Amino acid sequence: TAPYETILVERDPENERVAVLTLNRPEALNALNLTVMDEVVAAAEALDRDPGVGCLMITGSERAFAAGADIKEMRPRGYPEMYLTDWFTAWDRLGQVRTPTVAAVSGYALGGGCELAMLCDILLAADTAVFGQPEIKLGVIPGIGGSQRLTRAIGKAKAMELCLTGRTMDAGEAERAGLVSRIVPAGELRAEALAVARTVAGMSKPVAMMAKEAVNRAFETSLAEGVRFERRLFHALFATADQKEGMAAFTEKRPPEFTHH
Ligand code: CAA
Repeated sequence: TAPYETILVERDPENERVAVLTLNRPEALNALNLTVMDEVVAAAEALDRDPGVGCLMITGSERAFAAGADIKEMRPRGYPEMYLTDWFTAWDRLGQVRTPTVAAVSGYALGGGCELAMLCDILLAADTAVFGQPEIKLGVIPGIGGSQRLTRAIGKAKAMELCLTGRTMDAGEAERAGLVSRIVPAGELRAEALAVARTVAGMSKPVAMMAKEAVNRAFETSLAEGVRFERRLFHALFATADQKEGMAAFTEKRPPEFTHH
């Protein structure tokens, strides 16, 4: 893989269809500076273009998934520069990756760290995870979609309290609120997230991509339009070899062998 400065990109030795992207700025609790942004986005887009990749897992360290955008890097900037460089906008490209993504969050997921996790499709948390949007304490507000995605994920009541007070949520509260799909003991997070990623990567890639696209459409449209969109994708899947294989395998009581077309 490319020699990145702030991230590690590997293939799962047990399943080459799983790619693992690890944030690696331990000296700053994985604070997301411009280099991290550029590297995460470039790596995710390259893996997304690779038909051999069926799932991308994004993780950090045991202590921190990411403690936010890099405050020291932002501190001296002025408005024209933030606007002219369209600061943070490159992160939107991570949300446009079509390959399914799994965030494995241990420790701090604050500010941009919480926003990065919410840009992923499946969010698994260690019991040590801490989520929040504490930007208000720095005199700013979330800037990578936190005010929107947190509100859609956990509702106005909690999102408003978190964004206005800067208080954090532990893993239990995050799970009860619907931010994360599951909590696992910290020591098992990586193995469990890899297991989820392997499961997803074992599905037909185009089918998994359409499932992701259909679920995401729920956030962008009316119920009737979303159901119509789902129905059209569902019908289209009957043009794939993997639909024939999946249904044949069920009938013949054997595991399917998907060919990703
Ligand atoms: N930016 C830059 N550096 C950071 C950082 C950040 N977001 N978070 C931590 N660091 C650095 C610290 O400055 C420290 O560096 P030094 O050793 O050089 O002093 C190092 O990481 C270790 O951090 P702490 O010593 O603070 O560790 P701690 O265990 O005492 O505290 C913490 C951990 C509670 C997470 C604390 O580091 C903290 O509050 N971090 C900032 C959290 C935050 O406000 N995040 C939001 C950022 S703004 C944002 O994200 C905008 C947006 O919408 C995208």
